[in-house]
Amino acid sequence: MSPGAEDYLPFTRPSIDEATIQGVVEVLRSGWITSGPQVKAFESALSQYLGGRPVRAFNSGTATMEVALRIAGVGPGHEVITTPLSWVATSNVVLAVGARPVFVDIDPVTRNIDLERVPAAITPRTRALLPVDLAGLPVDRGRLYAIARAHGLRVIEDAAQSFGARAAGAPVGTAGDLVSFSFHPNKNITAIEGGCLVLNDEAEARLAEQYRLQGVVRSGLDGMEVEIAGGKFNLTDVAARVGLGQLARLAEFTARRAALARLYFRAFEALGAREAGLALPVADFEHGNWHMFQVLLPQEQLAVPRSVVMAQMHAAGIGTGVHYPAIHLFALYRRQGWKSGDFPHAEHAGRNILTLPLFPAMRDADVERVAGALLEVLRRNRR
Ligand SMILES: Cc1ncc(COP(=O)(O)O)c(C=O)c1O
Repeated sequence: MSPGAEDYLPFTRPSIDEATIQGVVEVLRSGWITSGPQVKAFESALSQYLGGRPVRAFNSGTATMEVALRIAGVGPGHEVITTPLSWVATSNVVLAVGARPVFVDIDPVTRNIDLERVPAAITPRTRALLPVDLAGLPVDRGRLYAIARAHGLRVIEDAAQSFGARAAGAPVGTAGDLVSFSFHPNKNITAIEGGCLVLNDEAEARLAEQYRLQGVVRSGLDGMEVEIAGGKFNLTDVAARVGLGQLARLAEFTARRAALARLYFRAFEALGAREAGLALPVADFEHGNWHMFQVLLPQEQLAVPRSVVMAQMHAAGIGTGVHYPAIHLFALYRRQGWKSGDFPHAEHAGRNILTLPLFPAMRDADVERVAGALLEVLRRNRR
């Protein structure tokens, strides 16, 4: 069955409603399609959702993190502590500002950076902590900020995957230092491409605007000044209109994802998945936004590699994904000295992790189909 086939189940798919499509058409007809009133409206709706903190929209969640690092004053000679199990954007932005990522292994249960190991990685060059809420399961903010405070470090939360998740009883982004979200199509809400940065005060928000667009500061009708070399990271009004339509459905999307995740746990339990060696995610329905449902394959019990499992799932009409291979083993990072064995938990997860379909428009029956197909593939390929 091909990915385009009618009942092929992709691992994710955005839900864009007719009202949003109509809204986009109106923006396209309005005569103003790049950053304008829709971006302002999106920023103010995001700020309202995040307890009134200043929010600025960008054209990606990568741009937001790079700008956050610059606002935090991170540059050459500095170190930033982060996780080796993330989308490579997380550490690429550290390199982009001329600093060095310092990886700390993950906690094999949460698959997020192991906060217990962070203090030992802090040096006089450390400027910031850059944790990731993998699959939308938030890193423990209490412990994270206790470490940051004790060592005088800035925090840039890579919350690309945790929009709608909760930490300390409030949505991720409501509290904390600099918080970065992505609105890539796979994320829980999308703006086609885009991201936003949650800032501490208006001074930081003005700086974010400068970094977002060539460093330009306008005054009056014809005044223009440039003091810093900003980039070209502004969001279009078309994208912002998509984001507004999505934000209005956040609660519904999050609830549906959680319901599907519960069905996965139930289906896997009924099928004896743990006994079959499959490692399930943490069943945290208080904090997580169920951005992804990821399992670890029992590779040592299988006669085939993960790619064959994926191919057999694909043949059964089911899409799966890999999020992610361990970053430090990419050629770019190996060239800088990292090697196999440096972070065993991240490497194990990077080799065995598999993302199963999870998106709001999925049907309950799809979950049982996926769980059944995966267990069947594992049985078929047992050593
Ligand atoms: C953990 C993580 N960090 C950063 C990003 C970068 O976001 P974007 O693709 O919007 O640049 C993503 C998403 O792609 C992500 O999943």
